[in-house]
Amino acid sequence: METFQALLARKLAEALAAAGLAPAGSVTPATDPRFGDYQTNAALVLAKQLSENPRAIAQKILDAFDLRDLCDPPTIAGAGFINLALRPETIAAKTAELLQDDRLGVEKAAAPKRIVIDFGSPNVAKPMHVGHIRSTVLGDALARIASFLGHDVIRDNHIGDWGTQFGMVIYGWKNLLDRAALERDPIAELVRIYKGANDLATTDPAVREACREELVKLQAADPENYGIWTECVALSMREFEAAYKILDIHYDIQRGESFYNDRLAGIVERLMKAGIAEISEGAVVVFFRDVVELADKPAIIRKKDGGFNYATTDIATVDYRVDDLRRDTLWYVVGAPQILHFKQIFAIAKREGRSADFRHITFGSILGDDRKLMKTRSGDNVPLRDVLDEAVIRARKLVDEKNPDLPESERANIAKIIGIGAVKYADLSQYRMTDYIFSWDRMLSFQGNTAPYLQNAYVRIRSIFRKSGEEFAPAKEIVLGTPEEKNLATRLCQFGEVVPTVVNDFRPNILANYLFELANSFHSFYEACPVLKSEEPARSSRLALCELTGRVLSKGLDLLGINVPEKM
Ligand code: ARG
Repeated sequence: METFQALLARKLAEALAAAGLAPAGSVTPATDPRFGDYQTNAALVLAKQLSENPRAIAQKILDAFDLRDLCDPPTIAGAGFINLALRPETIAAKTAELLQDDRLGVEKAAAPKRIVIDFGSPNVAKPMHVGHIRSTVLGDALARIASFLGHDVIRDNHIGDWGTQFGMVIYGWKNLLDRAALERDPIAELVRIYKGANDLATTDPAVREACREELVKLQAADPENYGIWTECVALSMREFEAAYKILDIHYDIQRGESFYNDRLAGIVERLMKAGIAEISEGAVVVFFRDVVELADKPAIIRKKDGGFNYATTDIATVDYRVDDLRRDTLWYVVGAPQILHFKQIFAIAKREGRSADFRHITFGSILGDDRKLMKTRSGDNVPLRDVLDEAVIRARKLVDEKNPDLPESERANIAKIIGIGAVKYADLSQYRMTDYIFSWDRMLSFQGNTAPYLQNAYVRIRSIFRKSGEEFAPAKEIVLGTPEEKNLATRLCQFGEVVPTVVNDFRPNILANYLFELANSFHSFYEACPVLKSEEPARSSRLALCELTGRVLSKGLDLLGINVPEKM
């Protein structure tokens, strides 16, 4: 189904051609609803190109514009903008069409991509902390939206399950492990033995050497060390899975770093042969002398001691994703501290002649009340588990206050939907690059741009239908008699315009803001227009607007990974 924006852009192109003008400018939603629904800057762009009067060109375009049934007569504003106001009948007809469309007006991408999204990607023997929220929640939303747009998406969890830290973990396991503590809280105990070994190693060279030997043995697949490593991975995975279950996040594949181990030697050899890598001070290194920002930042792909690096693993990962999985688009949702790393990886891929579209999707930090990185009282990272537990507990209090009569199990379920939704939405409603302050009160508020506000709008709609006791039946006719009805219907028609723009620059906040404005339009409509008590044909038409708003809210939130309750 063609969006209004696309339709008007097409009409504009026809008008320009008919007026003997070159294609120029674009059609965008109006910045101020008083001037209409859409506007175009075509005359301004052409005036500059031709050094002519913009208002005169705008008039030429108007003379050729064939918008008879679609819009009120267009007007010229300011320096030469053309304002377009859709006629209520046009909007009404489209609204009726949307009620029959299970994609709610969102077209599939014309050129579907084969994408792999690398997101979340936590590390074994370390707790998932609040910083992992952003990558996990953002990556999940982008995966959902890309899939809905018709792209072929593989979600990959690139777990950090290999690396030098395992020397310490294994030394700690053999010398410091408290089995009972491991049973009680595996990750906490793994972190404790890792820290313990690390502390000893910094003061005692003998321990440092012992840790190094444990690592070498692991790399040589010594059965005891390999067994300990396997157990650490399994314990951590159990913890990750528990978080993914609460968060309702799934992966198609989980290829940890260790998956690539036996490919690394071959990669170093290949890059050497191709003249991309060279030996420098005993290590194998890739220099980027021709890339300004990387000129003094070489990537080490084999260390002096023969060990491989994080970078080597990521080159192997590119091979796997492009050659084995046959992907043409690689998205990495990973924090900004790794910008340099990915620049290097992408530069190497380019030198190897790869043409895939590589994107590093970075994000800002989550801050505490003090505007510094969010930490616990003792200065540690806040474990993700604690955040999710607290979200549900706090939401539960709200549900108990609002709806004490609901059965216990239903309240528990609603609390989960609200609490987890609030945490996700607080993140996704921000532009990803901005740091934001983690505030329980704000994210759980029923007012403002929050998940509970949107969920509440949905619940209100469901309760209208419960009250009416009727199943929804599509109205024979949509009538947009009041400005509030027209405004709400216009917004509903824009869902199909908003969703595709999210993946242009990876900004789910565009969708979040749209849903917030939609909920606002719904509330204005609901205050101004009685629904169940109004006469036909308004009654059926208004019920249809309610129904469609409910569908768009719930689909939009679903694309952000957020559920809606039927009551709250
Ligand atoms: N495990 C890494 C970390 O926590 C993130 C991995 C990101 N993905 C990648 N292909 N390097 O920092």
